[in-house]
Amino acid sequence: MTVYAIIGGTGLTQLDGLTIRQSLPVNTPYGAPSGEIQLGELAGREVMFLARHGHPHRLPPHRINYRANIWALKQAGAQAVLAVNAVGGIHSGMDAGHFCVPHNLVDYTSGRDHTFFCDDLEQVTHIDFTHPYSQPLRARLIAALTAQGCAFSDFGVYGCTQGPRLESAAEIVRLERDGCDIVGMTGMPEASLARELELEYACLALVVNPAAGKSSAVISMAEIDHALQGGIGQVKAILAGVLSAA
Ligand code: HPA
Repeated sequence: MTVYAIIGGTGLTQLDGLTIRQSLPVNTPYGAPSGEIQLGELAGREVMFLARHGHPHRLPPHRINYRANIWALKQAGAQAVLAVNAVGGIHSGMDAGHFCVPHNLVDYTSGRDHTFFCDDLEQVTHIDFTHPYSQPLRARLIAALTAQGCAFSDFGVYGCTQGPRLESAAEIVRLERDGCDIVGMTGMPEASLARELELEYACLALVVNPAAGKSSAVISMAEIDHALQGGIGQVKAILAGVLSAA
């Protein structure tokens, strides 16, 4: 049976319903991950959980040690990663509260430690990244979203920006021109690092605000928190749905 790990993003620093059996303090050749890996049971299934921003939430997107997180999960025995990300909506159908299971991404980040393949100069490795997300995992997320009756899109291009500031309206116009449907700050290099270590990886994105310039209002943390609180119960039910069906 596939061993699943969940990486919880903003609003999901702990997973209610997870019966924790063990907390693994892990160190890696790349430094410390965002926190301990919790091993436990959710929906009758063994699962690992890691809070991407730490618990409590303390790491901004550009300070997360993505390499340590992915390495630690691999070392702990994970084979598949369900990544939860809060995002802004660019596509007109992606309002706050809407879910998206992106099928592709564009990486706009810079200066993040983004590869495990940087020391062995004798053997340069170029992973295939044509389709960044695992299709079977995406299908499981889509089935669980359908079963829950959630409003969601089974497609989407995730534009990953550097943050921690939000984007300018002109940047969102550019992302839209590039084909992006949603925008977030934590999707990369997590997805490509998972591919480098041959972990299945898919993203469950929850839209928490219209992206910059997509509404006349200023984007506020209060608005984002409100949308997160509204959606996080569904996120947990969707994750439980994936695990119970797997
Ligand atoms: N932009 C980037 N990241 C985000 C946003 C946004 O509008 N909302 C939540 N994460």
